[in-house]
Amino acid sequence: MPGIVLIGAQWGDEGKGKATDLIGTKVDYVARFNGGNNAGHTVVVGDESYALHLLPSGIISPTATPVIGNGVVVDPEVLFEEIDGLESRGVDCSRLLVSEGAHIIAPYHRVLDKVTERFLGKHKIGTTGRGIGPAYADKINRVGIRVHDLFNAEHLHDKVEASLHQKNQMLVKLYNRRPIDVNETTDELLRLGERLKPYVANTSLVLNKALDEGKTVLFEGGQATMLDVDHGTYPFVTSSNPTAGGACTGTGVGPTKISRVIGVSKAYVTRVGEGPFPTELFGEDGDWLRAQGHEYGVTTGRPRRCGWFDAVVNRYAAQVNGLTDIVLTKLDVLTGLKEIPLCVAYDVNGERRDDMPTDQAEFAVAKPIYESMPGWSEDISQIHDFNDLPKTCQDYVKRLEELSGCRISVIGTGPQRDHIIQINSLVD
Ligand code: GDP
Ligand code: IMO
Ligand code: MG
Repeated sequence: MPGIVLIGAQWGDEGKGKATDLIGTKVDYVARFNGGNNAGHTVVVGDESYALHLLPSGIISPTATPVIGNGVVVDPEVLFEEIDGLESRGVDCSRLLVSEGAHIIAPYHRVLDKVTERFLGKHKIGTTGRGIGPAYADKINRVGIRVHDLFNAEHLHDKVEASLHQKNQMLVKLYNRRPIDVNETTDELLRLGERLKPYVANTSLVLNKALDEGKTVLFEGGQATMLDVDHGTYPFVTSSNPTAGGACTGTGVGPTKISRVIGVSKAYVTRVGEGPFPTELFGEDGDWLRAQGHEYGVTTGRPRRCGWFDAVVNRYAAQVNGLTDIVLTKLDVLTGLKEIPLCVAYDVNGERRDDMPTDQAEFAVAKPIYESMPGWSEDISQIHDFNDLPKTCQDYVKRLEELSGCRISVIGTGPQRDHIIQINSLVD
């Protein structure tokens, strides 16, 4: 029966793509449940590196069926570009299934994302500019376009008209832009729908049947816990629920079908875009981490903000996701440091806080309370047994595990598929 959820435990880019690929060959389905092409998941196989945005990372596995769930926002143009790019490299995408209930990112959502950010000025979120927020806003406002709407011209025209009515007023009167034409937009969406049709399915039914037949489904999260619209650092978040509960609402599978929740964490922390980040490093240490870890965004190419490991974040992630396992990635990046500071708690206006402050005004002024662990200098990328790691490296991992309150089952020691130390199986 097993339903396995895999999510980001920090602010994204933890290595979910690599972790999904690792499990991908052992599962029957890999389903994305949230976000859209704001995600950038890297999978490295031998000399080939794949940057995936909208497709589940399981697409690289020749045996798993990739699924885009109803909770995802789908930009069809981006989807086709990604499919064409992968097929030209010999990756078969014909098994892909797209939920008929998923919402569409239309061209006007991209426009609105950019103008809204500009309009926000110093209050901007630093979005990826892919139209994610405006598409989810339409979903919640009940003026969204769903995949199945693309197959009925009259119905679609009506929906586009309803959606653009207010937006055009805003574009013209507030943002000083040209209005968007309803007929042109409808025709464009109908054209995209034609190509999308063969992939479209009732994916909730497919996944539930699969689980009932004893097949294994991996639910792959985009973004991460601290970017969750409910549980993250609001308003500096994405517009979906990347936490484990999102796997159920975003695919139409009940929580009783989930037996495992895997959180992916870096051995340090990165963040892209605006918003508070207590352990952020601004000087040489931050530049060193960025260079060692190649910390540049897969989607926007922006340099990622870097900081030391934050155990408060990990404990919080373990709590709100109900984590059963942690995949700790990029441990190799810390090789060469004499001392490794790690944040065990916060100081908020002179008061020690071991738990995540929910008031963002408090989180914004939270100062890390550090503990320091001795580092190691040996190359660990070829090590496959935990006991062969340098003693100080083992101690660092054990301390992270203790502070996070969840077992570490896999350790990443490099970007390649075989750069791992497997402590516990993730699928049994
Ligand atoms: P995702 O968004 O969570 O899938 O992560 P990204 O793909 O955006 O960023 C993670 C980056 O780290 C990618 O370039 C991966 O190839 C790389 N990576 C993943 N695991 C490891 C690891 O254990 N060590 C190193 N050095 N790189 C890793
Ligand atoms: P993966 O799946 C890191 C961030 C953006 C911005 C905020 C809102 O690769 O971990 P959005 O475009 O979603 O409205 O932007 O969320 N963000 C990510 N940061 N990794 C991601 O995805 C992200 N997806 C969105 O930088 O701060
Ligand atoms: Mg990423």
